[in-house]
Amino acid sequence: MTTTRLRDYQPSDMDAVLRLWDEVRQEGMEPVYALAEVLASCEKDHAVIASRGDEVVGAAVARAAHDQGWIVFLAVTTSARGAGIAGDMLAALEQRMAPMGLTRLSILVPDEQQQVGALMRAGFHDRAHLSYFEREIPVKRRELSILRDLGGRILPRDLWESIAGMQAEKKLLERRLVLPLAEAELAEEFGVEPPRSIVLFGPPGTGKTTFAKAVASRLQWPFVEVFPSRIAHGPGGLAAGLRETFGAIAELDHVIVFIDEVEEIAAQRGGEPPSAMQGVTNELLKLIPTFRDRPGRLLICATNFIRSLDDAFLRHGRFDYVIPIGLPDAEARRAIWSRYIPEASRERVDVATLVERSDGFSPADIEFAARSAAQAALENSVYGGTSSTTVGPTLDDYLAAISRTRTTVSADVAREFHADIDMLARY
Ligand SMILES: Nc1ncnc2c1ncn2[C@@H]1O[C@H](COP(=O)(O)OP(=O)(O)O)[C@@H](O)[C@H]1O
Ligand SMILES: [Mg+2]
Repeated sequence: MTTTRLRDYQPSDMDAVLRLWDEVRQEGMEPVYALAEVLASCEKDHAVIASRGDEVVGAAVARAAHDQGWIVFLAVTTSARGAGIAGDMLAALEQRMAPMGLTRLSILVPDEQQQVGALMRAGFHDRAHLSYFEREIPVKRRELSILRDLGGRILPRDLWESIAGMQAEKKLLERRLVLPLAEAELAEEFGVEPPRSIVLFGPPGTGKTTFAKAVASRLQWPFVEVFPSRIAHGPGGLAAGLRETFGAIAELDHVIVFIDEVEEIAAQRGGEPPSAMQGVTNELLKLIPTFRDRPGRLLICATNFIRSLDDAFLRHGRFDYVIPIGLPDAEARRAIWSRYIPEASRERVDVATLVERSDGFSPADIEFAARSAAQAALENSVYGGTSSTTVGPTLDDYLAAISRTRTTVSADVAREFHADIDMLARY
């Protein structure tokens, strides 16, 4: 039998490491470290190669993290197994890395991996009751400066859960947007084209901005809001600013782009002489198809006045869905009220009454009324001069606040909204 030699990794071994890597995968074991990581460690960290004649039969690769060494790849080709090569490579690696002050060498192996025997023989012991967890860091390094220039950011993970009530809207967005975007491969298997651009419409304060952010938070994709007023100052004006902004956005792997009050830049064209905004509307109409060409992104446009949007804007092919975000029903109002009533008041406040009396309130109206009740109760308790011992707003405080609150959505607006749904909604 030819003797096995151990030596340091050389750049010409790259193909052989690639082959070993493939072999491991062919055996049905997904390596813990990505190939790029392993190759980077071959170049920059520590790697020992086992060879027989010209043939590479094994590789052990590791990196040091302070006093702990991590083995990022360990493989012996099938035909050379059983000869103790893995153990020899580990010993050689340890010898090379020990002078760096390492006190421990660790390796993660898939449950079904047969290397366990070799590791035991080499003096490794199995740490029981450990599970391996990982999470993707959503933004790559090269994207950071683009995101900074665009004013984009990753939003906290809990925004979706923090939307109270609005079950119907949540369910719709969860199914139509989040599902196909988060499970892109599954969607493809079912022949589902993930949405690329949508419109949210509805009266002010119903939660359009909140939902757009929640979708970004849910997917953990960066959230970039495009502010027409901010990009209008460049030399080419707003149209050129939009083009440039969308050019930068195209560099991101994943992104939710949000344009609020989109009617301001995509209003009905026509009129003589043509308004200055027409060029901007045209520019946006041109940018959307290009934006839609790339996966991993979603444009969300929000508007309070869907009727004033240009017809071409809403035509099929530009937006996958046109989704109404309406006033909360009783159940949603209950959830929203419950969120704002402090612990100390819960026993005393009959939420059902608040729900009934706040019919026609938007989430923002309820938020306002709840804060106003709390503030009034606080002021009254401190400055009111009564010797009342109750802490927190009472039902009366809430009812008074409800009558003080002017609802944002009048009956007329609500009627128009329902007509808009019949005419324009698509989901
Ligand atoms: N479902 C909800 N639960 C709790 N607060 C909400 C909800 N929807 C909206 N809000 C609050 O109402 C206010 C207005 O919501 P926003 O999303 O800006 O409405 P829109 O964009 O439709 O005008 C925000 O302060 C938001 O936090
Ligand atoms: Mg908004």
